[in-house]
Amino acid sequence: MPKLSLRDLDVRGKRVLVRADFNVPVETRGGKFRITDDTRIRESLPTISYLREHGAKTILMSHFARPKGKPVEKYSLRPIGDYLHSLIHQPVIFSHDTIGEVPAKIVDHMESGDVALLENVRFQPGEEANDPEFAKALAELGDLYVNDAFGAAHRAHASTVGVTKFVEKAAMGLLMEKELKHLRDGLEKPARPFVVILGGAKVSDKIGVLKALMEKADTILIGGAMANTFLKAEGIPVGASRVESDKVDLACELLDTAKRRGVKSIALYQDEIAKAETILWNGPVGIFEIPEFAEGTIAIAEALAQSGATTIIGGGDSVTAIKQAGLADKMTFISTGGGAALELLEGKELPGVAALSDKN
Ligand code: 3PG
Repeated sequence: MPKLSLRDLDVRGKRVLVRADFNVPVETRGGKFRITDDTRIRESLPTISYLREHGAKTILMSHFARPKGKPVEKYSLRPIGDYLHSLIHQPVIFSHDTIGEVPAKIVDHMESGDVALLENVRFQPGEEANDPEFAKALAELGDLYVNDAFGAAHRAHASTVGVTKFVEKAAMGLLMEKELKHLRDGLEKPARPFVVILGGAKVSDKIGVLKALMEKADTILIGGAMANTFLKAEGIPVGASRVESDKVDLACELLDTAKRRGVKSIALYQDEIAKAETILWNGPVGIFEIPEFAEGTIAIAEALAQSGATTIIGGGDSVTAIKQAGLADKMTFISTGGGAALELLEGKELPGVAALSDKN
């Protein structure tokens, strides 16, 4: 059933509670806070601009890191609010409480076009527990709810799922809509050959997606640390490299299935990429943060850029690698979701999407 979109809502003069995913990578050096990749914040701008242009009062909320249900100063969203201010050239009113009197007062004083940001929803124990009382308190701050946090759509938390039960209408934001369109619709009938490149450290994180993609892909290229587990399964020595020993049997099983289907599991990357019409890449094929180990990942990014194929990149680290290589604008689509993108590719229903209002 198609879900309601932000574009279906009449937002003028309304208080619109927006769940964004501002969980961005940061570093603090010498007490100075720096966002090292602002993609998620920038990607939420179309929804924020749409709401401002249509005269809504925008109340943003997000999680940041994993403070485990209590306030942790270094995980405050205040600096993210300051950064957002610099991007939208308009004050972002910050509420140092997530629910209660402080945000209620702020929201009461908001004019159409104003933007506010609530403190980290994960400072509250009710968030991850999907507590109805907390969800209700969040819902009281808005007339309408919009979920634009694709990156957190695989979490059934109060701000992504619980809250939808206490609002009149719950719709997808523009980023959520874009992500679902590219990842779901785009890969439903991919132009062939369809090549999947899977990297990263853990086979265990990607079993589901591997099994699901084996049904769909023409070629699966496995790289990064997880390839070691497959090499070991083939009896190839991997020295001191990282191996998930308890997953070697599973790797054997997957290789058997792959061989039966005539799918090449480990092959010549560039050749396969050059032949592809659709390429999905999830996870770097080496510790690209260390220059000595970046070569393979960067070579893949370059091959993708030159392939002329539809290129879809999912998962935080491969996105960072593409950006480091300066090739982001050469890709067809770059997802802001890591775990959420994987669950979607596995064919799982994302709770944050399922909870939204149906279109009709
Ligand atoms: C992510 O970074 O994948 C999302 O923001 C979800 O964060 P989480 O894994 O801490 O729930």
